[in-house]
Amino acid sequence: ELFSSIYADYLSPFARHVNATVLRIDKLAPYFKGASVNTILFMTASFYVSPRQNEPPLVPYWIPFIGSAITMGIDPIKFYRDRQKEGNNLVFNAKLADASAEEAYRSLTVPVFGKGVVYDVHNSVLMEQKKFVKAGLSVENLRAYIPMIEMETKNYLSRWNKKSDVQDIHKAMAELIILTASRCLLVAQIFHDLDGGFKPINFLFDDLPLPSNRLRDKAHVKMRHFFIDIMKHRRDTGKVDSTDVMQYLATNCQYKSGRSLTDMEVAHIMIAMLMAGQHTSSTTSAWAFLYLAWNPELFDKLRQEQIEILGSLDAPLTYDSLKQLTLHNNIVRETLRLRPPILHIIRKVVRDMTIPGTTYVIPKDAYVQCIPAITARSDEFFENAEEFNPYRWKDYDLQNKEHDDDLVDYGFGALSASARSPVLPFGAGRHRCIGEPFAYVQIKTILATFVRTFNLELHNNKFPECDFTTMMVQPKHPMVKYTRVDC
Ligand code: HEM
Repeated sequence: ELFSSIYADYLSPFARHVNATVLRIDKLAPYFKGASVNTILFMTASFYVSPRQNEPPLVPYWIPFIGSAITMGIDPIKFYRDRQKEGNNLVFNAKLADASAEEAYRSLTVPVFGKGVVYDVHNSVLMEQKKFVKAGLSVENLRAYIPMIEMETKNYLSRWNKKSDVQDIHKAMAELIILTASRCLLVAQIFHDLDGGFKPINFLFDDLPLPSNRLRDKAHVKMRHFFIDIMKHRRDTGKVDSTDVMQYLATNCQYKSGRSLTDMEVAHIMIAMLMAGQHTSSTTSAWAFLYLAWNPELFDKLRQEQIEILGSLDAPLTYDSLKQLTLHNNIVRETLRLRPPILHIIRKVVRDMTIPGTTYVIPKDAYVQCIPAITARSDEFFENAEEFNPYRWKDYDLQNKEHDDDLVDYGFGALSASARSPVLPFGAGRHRCIGEPFAYVQIKTILATFVRTFNLELHNNKFPECDFTTMMVQPKHPMVKYTRVDC
């Protein structure tokens, strides 16, 4: 029964054109209770079953049952690179009727974010919710956030009060990102428990009775009430904060049907936003600081840039001045090219789906995934692609102009319909990230504030390896030695 229901690993020659893998993991779930999703993915990838006619061919491998699982598990980037050259379009721009993000992500996200938002609603409602959040993260609001982020960062770093010491930079960034995003310690503690529910295993199983899931559920309720209580308090007292997104969602947003968001929907969107930004931005910042620690001459270059543009290292950071700090910007951009935090983009096929330009049909219930990180690290698109070189972006946009003629509006603003750029850390198509401007403002403000006080070196002179077993691609043993600039 098990064998007849699996279509193992369709990663194949066609991936040369579509940069995608098809996995049948849905049928396996009941057989692997307790195994991590990575194990399941890799085991699935290794079962040998002949494809039906028209199904994409299998990756060739030697050992039955193990198949390509080991190579993929140990180094997915190499595994995919060996087979893929270009294109993420099949996954990012799949028709809604063919492939679904909500079917792929629901069991992981709904218990954390809550009902009535993101992947618990029809895609058209998600598009409206993305429009609301995007409008809430307006330039005016981003302007107001920069001094707040700067102050939180200074407060946090005042704990690093030795002349020199060793710190876990990933842990520090995780704390700093939630502090700057929420500006509230109470949320941070609840957030920690909620975050415990964000585990790969919950991709596959609805609500396993795990202790982490019980904590997650309690934390979700606390967090929801936290936001709902603030909204009630604001209504009762007439006190509002015009720059915060929650206020914007509660007072300015109406669905096309004319209905306003309920307090619960607002609270759940707030949770979703905090979660969507937390691991992505903290992992990106951690990698950015690790790359700097690996190239310590960049610290002086960053300070020089600030002195040139802002006049001094004491000048307040503003939205407009941050925009002019191109080296700061390009360090974040280069980090996202080499270490995009979201590696796998996954969709569930909801009806038999023909791969354009081929006769291959991916069967309903298969999962398709793409890894844009492969093209981003390909020498075909970037000279010495594996090298961290923020200067490569200097004239990149001028030389690689995106065509504006294929703009599409999925409901949250026009964006390029193409997923053909070799670097897509924020995705593409209808599920593209709307948090990019906020993430850049947040990470650049932290970076600019940090370099004013500290230099970093790698602890033990070793650049951390990637941990592919976690939800985001995190650094293993991310220890750095800081030294105060004024010492
Ligand atoms: C979607 C990356 C920060 C909110 C996405 C996707 C990617 C991504 C790759 C597409 C996922 C898919 O197609 O399956 C990142 C990175 C970030 C970041 C690299 C930081 C460095 C944020 C922040 C927020 C946010 C700060 C909220 C303020 C969202 C939302 C979606 C999304 C709402 C849409 C989900 C959908 O339509 O299915 N992000 N993100 N992200 N992100 Fe981000």
